Amino acid sequence: MAYEELKARQSVVWGNGPYQRITEAIADLHTHVIDRLEPESGVRWLDLACGTGAVAELAAARGATVTGLDLAPALIETAKERAQEQGLAIDYVVGDVEQLALDDGSFEIVSSVCGVMFAPDHEAVARELARVTKPGGRIGLINWTPGPGVADLFRIMAPFQAAPLPSNPFEWGEEKHVRELLGDAFELELEKHVSPFALESGEAYWELFSTSYGPTKTLVESLGDRSEELHRAWVDALETKYRVNGGIVQQREYLLVLGTRR
Ligand SMILES: C[S@@+](CC[C@H](N)C(=O)[O-])C[C@H]1O[C@@H](n2cnc3c(N)ncnc32)[C@H](O)[C@@H]1O
Repeated sequence: MAYEELKARQSVVWGNGPYQRITEAIADLHTHVIDRLEPESGVRWLDLACGTGAVAELAAARGATVTGLDLAPALIETAKERAQEQGLAIDYVVGDVEQLALDDGSFEIVSSVCGVMFAPDHEAVARELARVTKPGGRIGLINWTPGPGVADLFRIMAPFQAAPLPSNPFEWGEEKHVRELLGDAFELELEKHVSPFALESGEAYWELFSTSYGPTKTLVESLGDRSEELHRAWVDALETKYRVNGGIVQQREYLLVLGTRR
């Protein structure tokens, strides 16, 4: 599948379902990136692939002047409603992280939590990160690694997909790949961390993702009778790999990428 075709699909796929439920399941990652980037009053902050706006909200609440950008119009709509409810002035726009309609050097901080990793053209994303970050400005990315965690979910779904992804999002969780993409433009600091995610069962995990995580919900809807096969494969894999006494604890491994624009 070509990159442009994938992105046209993804702009719908990611908005399929109440994504806010998933956002809440990665709240620890939002706090982590905010704590490390330390928003200051008035700083110009861009949150890329912002989803329903968790990081944008935290940065704006601390006084940053925030723009949030995402490919999925449905998620931007939810983000706008949430900002209005909370009385936060956040500039939300629909856009593509591979091609930002934003000026060179226009942000002091650029963040993305489990976000830019899902755009297929990694080099284009890296170019845009370097272009819009002001010299001396900072980036903070959180990327799932190819190890235990969310990559397992994509491995479970892969045999059911009509076509493989044209590039591998989880390469953004590998230090070597990130250094190749961003090392020339940014002074980098890379750290591996684990986010534990606890639920009562593999079945509860399936309920959450099959109803609320766009890529899984869309796949389920495309499978017809075969969706039960995916359901079984999902629950079996999680119960086998992550069962501890009394429930499921998935150790989700991620790479925190901190960089200062040279
Ligand atoms: C796993 S969600 C993360 C959302 C949010 N950052 C959070 O932490 O809750 C991935 C997000 O990347 C967005 N996305 C995927 N490809 C994109 C692209 N090319 N440009 C902009 N956003 C994109 C999706 O629409 C989705 O909101």
